[in-house]
Amino acid sequence: MVTSSQTDQRQIYQCKVSLKGLIPPIWRKIQVSGDIRLDEFHRVLQIVMGWGNYHSYRFIIDGAMYGPLGDVFADATVRSAHEVRLSQVAGTEGSRFIYLYDLADDWQHVVKVEKILAPKPGVQYPICRAGQRACPPEECGGIWEYTNLLEILQDPRHPEHREIVEPYGGDFDPEVFDLVRVNRALQPIREAQVRKTKEIIPIQQWTEADSRLYQEIAAVAVPAREEQISALLTLLPFSQADSFRAVELGCGEGFLSHALLDCFPQAQVVALDGSAEMRAQAAARLSDFGSRALVEPFDLNSGDWLSHLEGADCIVSSLVVHHLDGEQKQRLFAAIYERLSAQGVLLIADLIQPQRPEAGELFAATWDRSAEAQALAKTGSRQLFEQFVKTEWNHYRFPDPFDKPSSLFEQLTWLKAAGFAVVDCFWLQAGHAIYGGYKAVLGDSSVGVSFTTALRSVQAALHRA
Ligand SMILES: C[S@@+](CC[C@H](N)C(=O)[O-])C[C@H]1O[C@@H](n2cnc3c(N)ncnc32)[C@H](O)[C@@H]1O
Repeated sequence: MVTSSQTDQRQIYQCKVSLKGLIPPIWRKIQVSGDIRLDEFHRVLQIVMGWGNYHSYRFIIDGAMYGPLGDVFADATVRSAHEVRLSQVAGTEGSRFIYLYDLADDWQHVVKVEKILAPKPGVQYPICRAGQRACPPEECGGIWEYTNLLEILQDPRHPEHREIVEPYGGDFDPEVFDLVRVNRALQPIREAQVRKTKEIIPIQQWTEADSRLYQEIAAVAVPAREEQISALLTLLPFSQADSFRAVELGCGEGFLSHALLDCFPQAQVVALDGSAEMRAQAAARLSDFGSRALVEPFDLNSGDWLSHLEGADCIVSSLVVHHLDGEQKQRLFAAIYERLSAQGVLLIADLIQPQRPEAGELFAATWDRSAEAQALAKTGSRQLFEQFVKTEWNHYRFPDPFDKPSSLFEQLTWLKAAGFAVVDCFWLQAGHAIYGGYKAVLGDSSVGVSFTTALRSVQAALHRA
């Protein structure tokens, strides 16, 4: 999930990187900030190509040679790659230069600056956009040896076939290129770039542009949205006859608050949000409930709204808490626990951090799948799904350091440490979980509403004109 940042004034260089002399070609399309230093650019190229960074390198640009001054091969003709930025040496669209890796095997890459672009709001660079074919194995001997190796690999009857396959464990496939894996491996470099930018200019986390974008795509971008909101309402330990006070943190357009007020006719809700545009939408939507609903501004990162929580019976929040880092979440859980009434409950619907790369891939793929299915089911077209993809909303595919989901396990531990008697995850789909804590241990029989009742209220809220 991305948020717009108005801070990134750097230009972005879209480069095509191709290994020279190979057919079919091995290539990558990448976008990097023009102010990246050449030694950092070398690290990016290592990752996107798939090299292991075992050997030295050179950039050969307009007859000048750049590389690491510390290496034993660097003579007086080599200038420091640490002192030069990409935009200083390849400042125009169409310029080409050579990136040489492994001075023995002599892998020459042609880097062509295809386009110089404005940074896209919310996108973190460097990013790999496309590519084809696997990188040759390290130390395979250079281009001629590699071509020979491919011929032997393709011919199981070749006398050297076994001898060649063994060193690569039999699983080297020259046709495979994994874009997701590459972008995941670029994440530490991206985070370092963001830290550098942050030191210079403070970063705005959520803008009115984000509110507008979210409103356009939420119907498909929130997995199983109707089911998810209904599940949250079903988990509330209240009957329809109970009067209780709820607070929603980051209410957005107010759908959850609307559904809650519809489902529980004696309840009151304070709906808080930081975006004026969202608050206006929520206020219009919740006007149906008169004085039972109050929409107020709040800033999640400050504490001056906490007075709204005093004595509340339930706090709910959807897709907001992941904007806080781990420490902030712990402080929030403790502050909520202190203020909730004795029977109080905190329920959060939000992204969670996968604990294995395989889980990250699962979350990414199932989120895409859910967005596509919801787009087709709701509109009969893929257009909203395409917008979801284009805007890089899928955090598990396009991680954004402004989104800081924590692992489910950690969050349950923090809830327990805050004092909640019962903590658990109650629903999970496509990396989106509903989890939370109850202050009191209740008996075995449910005091809440049925899922069907909750679903009716959610549908009424979502389909309200
Ligand atoms: C992804 S939207 C979710 C909206 C709604 N809860 C839903 O599930 O549809 C995130 C909401 O959190 C609000 N928000 C994000 N960061 C915030 C902050 N630091 N302080 C207050 N509100 C914030 C945004 O204005 C937006 O309405």
